[in-house]
Amino acid sequence: MDKFIVHGGRALEGSIQVSGAKNAVLPIMAAALLTDEEVVVRNVPDLRDVRTMAAVLGELGMTVDFDGDAVRIKASDESCCTAPYELVSTMRASICVLGPLLAKRGAARVSMPGGCVLGVRPIDLHIKGLSSLGAQLEVRRGYVEASQVRLRGAEVFLGSTFGSTVLGTANVLMAAVLAEGRTVIENAAMEPELDDLARFLIAMGARIQGTGTHRLVIEGVKELHGCDYSVIPDRIEAGTFLIAGALVGRQVDVIGAEPDHMMAFLHIMNTAGVSVERIGSTLRVKAGNKFLPTDISTHSFPGFPTDLQAQTMVLMTLADGISIVTERIYPDRFIHVAELNRLGAEIRKEGNQAIVHGVEALSGAQVMASDLRASAALVLAGLVADGETEIHRVYHIDRGYEGIDRKLNALGARIERI
Ligand code: EPU
Repeated sequence: MDKFIVHGGRALEGSIQVSGAKNAVLPIMAAALLTDEEVVVRNVPDLRDVRTMAAVLGELGMTVDFDGDAVRIKASDESCCTAPYELVSTMRASICVLGPLLAKRGAARVSMPGGCVLGVRPIDLHIKGLSSLGAQLEVRRGYVEASQVRLRGAEVFLGSTFGSTVLGTANVLMAAVLAEGRTVIENAAMEPELDDLARFLIAMGARIQGTGTHRLVIEGVKELHGCDYSVIPDRIEAGTFLIAGALVGRQVDVIGAEPDHMMAFLHIMNTAGVSVERIGSTLRVKAGNKFLPTDISTHSFPGFPTDLQAQTMVLMTLADGISIVTERIYPDRFIHVAELNRLGAEIRKEGNQAIVHGVEALSGAQVMASDLRASAALVLAGLVADGETEIHRVYHIDRGYEGIDRKLNALGARIERI
């Protein structure tokens, strides 16, 4: 199993390119199930999760060919509707084949994803939403399944204690585009990745109004056609690089970002005393003086993204005072706290909050990566810590960051993959 050795304290300088958004490309690949024609998706990042989605689609009779940063997907055999446990259990996003399978093939058998280090993560809203459209879904032997389905438009409200649901909205949206009649999704998630999915579906011939808002109105069509589409840049990867630049950057240009997708994060950077200059789609950051303490509270878009919580906490460990992090999407997403404390941080967890007392410096140690974003936080901490930080189980990071070691090393970091 790969591990990273991060040699801390080296200044970063230069330009770093943002890849396509993982959380946009995964549901978009699943949406290829909705047509018989070939779809071409571009700006696809080279990630383990993307390969896993390709394997899931392969199981479902789709031909998936990679060509540089493009992927070509076409149906070749529509007889299998099972997404097996072996694949779904390695990547929760596999659940978003459920809506397209029901809509296009009238049947689906998709393994329940189960919990993960972020918490229980139920799929009740996916099931509720798809049931409203007429799918009689049952959970049997760990699989959610339905057959002989004919979907009809309906009014669907998607809301839980934690707000809307991103992939739940994606599933209902992908089902509704081929359902008979009109569907209204109230309290739809508004994340840019979902907006990207809606635009992709429109490029396939879907009729969707209200994209990028909490209310999506979909007029079902009989069939969809192929298209050629380029996905948006990854705002979480861009944010991660900006934090690297703030921690140890002489001057770092993050190229190809979409700042409009990052307003809440950029606001927090500003509050923390980090100067980020916006030059078109380039964001320029320099390491400054001591960071200011800053409170963050994660919310659905356009609020502060939970997927940047762990990385931003690294800045706070070095701030001049106390910062409070409140996690409102995944109350248990704090496994990185104990690992950052091993590096000398002073963080105390209380319920869904972490209280971060800024310290003078971090020092390298052996740490364990627990999930994708927590791993990124440990890499960031390693860049600024004194000495060597040895990060075990970095396979998590390869799920969602394209060559993070290669990209940061090109700026002057020294991260060894062993
Ligand atoms: N929830 C329910 N019932 C449901 C669905 C969700 O109670 O049926 C709860 C969840 O337990 C959570 C909250 O609602 O507390 C939000 O979950 P959501 O469904 O929005 O998450 P997701 O769609 O499964 C996507 C991203 C996550 C990201 C979240 C929140 C993808 C592939 N995944 O997950 O990304 O954290 O939205 O923005 O798009 C990551 O990239 O590291 C990652 C975890």
